[in-house]
Amino acid sequence: MKKQLAVFASGTGTNFDAIARACAEGVLDAEVAVMVCDKPGAAVIGKAERYGVDTFVFSPKSYACKADYEAEIVKVLDAKKIDLVCLAGYMRIVGETLLGAYEGRIINIHPSLLPSFKGAHAVEDAVAYGVKVYGITIHWVNADLDGGKIIAQRAFPYEGSDPAEVHRLGQPIEHELYVETIKKLIQK
Ligand code: GAR
Repeated sequence: MKKQLAVFASGTGTNFDAIARACAEGVLDAEVAVMVCDKPGAAVIGKAERYGVDTFVFSPKSYACKADYEAEIVKVLDAKKIDLVCLAGYMRIVGETLLGAYEGRIINIHPSLLPSFKGAHAVEDAVAYGVKVYGITIHWVNADLDGGKIIAQRAFPYEGSDPAEVHRLGQPIEHELYVETIKKLIQK
């Protein structure tokens, strides 16, 4: 039985695309069973449709609180018998409802060498700091924002001061590292 993945994303979805493609091409012995998105209208939704991946798209403001929409997400994940949740540009803090049900099965990709530059503006913060070696981290998700145990990291040099260029250099590294890391985790 192929491992069942859930990918969570809020935006463009290039990491979703890399994971879904690796599944479709048999690079990963896994299937993206659902793509969860908190931004109706995000580009990642069209990507999921192109791969025939089911989606759960929700608008947080139509729920009274985080626990309410996370309870809905947990129902979807349970119904799909999800083995691993991959946060891929999901720009929302995971709360205790989702963690309570899936902690130990949730990983995140972050565009810095953690524990440096946590949070939503990691690349911009690193550029402002004058960083010369950038990187990507994949880590377990726990209640500590971007603070869970590190699973994989990859560094790259950049001496300039353009955040867009850091994102451009980091993207192919993210895609490769995410697929490699998922592969190792699901083989265990
Ligand atoms: C990625 O660069 C990922 O590292 C970042 O969002 C981007 C999503 O890109 N995640 C964070 O900043 C999490 N704090 P994508 O939508 O093209 O996959």
